[in-house]
Amino acid sequence: MQTIETERLILRPFREGDAADLLAYLRAPTASCFLSLKLADLAEAEIAVRKRALDEGCVAICLKQNGEVIGDLFGSAGENEEDDTASVGWNLNPQFGGRGYAFEAAGALLDHLFRVKGVRRIYAYVEDHNRPSRRLCEKLSMRREGVFVEYVSFTNDDAGNPIYENTMQYAILRREWMSGSTAIWEPLGMTDVAGVEATGDGA
Ligand SMILES: CC(C)(COP(=O)(O)OP(=O)(O)OC[C@H]1O[C@@H](n2cnc3c(N)ncnc32)[C@H](O)[C@@H]1OP(=O)(O)O)[C@@H](O)C(=O)NCCC(=O)NCCS
Repeated sequence: MQTIETERLILRPFREGDAADLLAYLRAPTASCFLSLKLADLAEAEIAVRKRALDEGCVAICLKQNGEVIGDLFGSAGENEEDDTASVGWNLNPQFGGRGYAFEAAGALLDHLFRVKGVRRIYAYVEDHNRPSRRLCEKLSMRREGVFVEYVSFTNDDAGNPIYENTMQYAILRREWMSGSTAIWEPLGMTDVAGVEATGDGA
């Protein structure tokens, strides 16, 4: 992916030298969906960086002021997707949360995918208890399209049984993004599928 500059950030491919910054937030992933990305040490992080550098859809989020990698985005069409559909995701070093960096980075990525790559539809999967990620989708004017109940398991309980999570799909169309309309979506509360106020901080 080409480099994208925003007010405070540079979005660019991963490259040699990023391992320590990547390790800083993947030593202990906070979202269950990223547990499989957990890195033990710098050697593992260096291998992960080399893989990411070859992945067109993998984007490092860097602070403009000092070049530090503070998280990453992915945004690409999967192998079995229609060519004009892309899935997106985000993972920020918690140390840099709550400052609008994820919104700034994700907004730039969506804009790039729609305007430069000509993508027609973008979607994101979010666990229903992941309030920060749901909030981000909503701020990006993505519409909640559905909830897949007990859709996926990332962890097991103490007895070894899979813990299933409810997964939401959020999406936005190119025409909606380009028109700046929040179009067809209804304002959402932060309730889980059972209608109970969600309290978790992240999937
Ligand atoms: C999901 C995630 C990317 C959200 O990050 P975030 O920092 O909370 O998101 P934002 O960039 O939208 O910033 C949030 C807050 O920063 C605040 N903020 C502070 N300074 C700001 C500025 N200059 N500009 C904009 N917002 C600013 C805003 O008030 C905003 O809060 P609001 O949404 O109530 O308005 C982050 O929690 C994360 O990486 N989680 C772990 C991984 C994960 O769960 N990934 C998703 C899996 S589905």
